[in-house]
Amino acid sequence: MDSQTVKDGTILPIRLYDDPILRSKATPVTEIDDQLIQLIRSMFATLYNAPGIGLAANQVGETVAVTVIDISDLEEGKGTKPMVLINPVIEAFSEETAEFEEGCLSLPDLRATVVRPAEIQVRFYDEQMREHRMTTGGLLARVMQHEIDHLNGIYFFDHLSPVQRARIFYQLRQIRKGLVKTEYPVVKPSKAYAS
Ligand code: NI
Repeated sequence: MDSQTVKDGTILPIRLYDDPILRSKATPVTEIDDQLIQLIRSMFATLYNAPGIGLAANQVGETVAVTVIDISDLEEGKGTKPMVLINPVIEAFSEETAEFEEGCLSLPDLRATVVRPAEIQVRFYDEQMREHRMTTGGLLARVMQHEIDHLNGIYFFDHLSPVQRARIFYQLRQIRKGLVKTEYPVVKPSKAYAS
């Protein structure tokens, strides 16, 4: 993604749990048009404003299979370029797993340790519809799995044990009721249902 494309965009309000769109499965992209490029720009603007390290299209109300990732602000991701993943598919997972404390812009103030495969092989298209295949581990594999989950209607808390789930029950209820404050614009669940 070139820097100009990353800069021009509109900050979009982020959907919060449990807006039904966050449980929807994304529709594959068949063509890159101006509208899609504009969406990608706005997703970056939204991501940087929050700030976050990954964002899926359904988090800003669009049901297309697009996610944007930029981990360059974190120590482990230094020097990494911003990425756009279109129609991403995880083709293989390592048997080895890793633990990492995850958060999500759609789940304000909620953090939990999630166990996921440590390495993945992923296939996706970029904003010029060029196909990429890569094997990756560490933070990037973690963020990719989290974002690709979003495109399949899955939250990180779906991976938690029953004991962990019990611990976050109260916080989930607060988010669902719209009783959370964020530093970035959001669409609260009740408003989303009405539209
Ligand atoms: Ni998320």
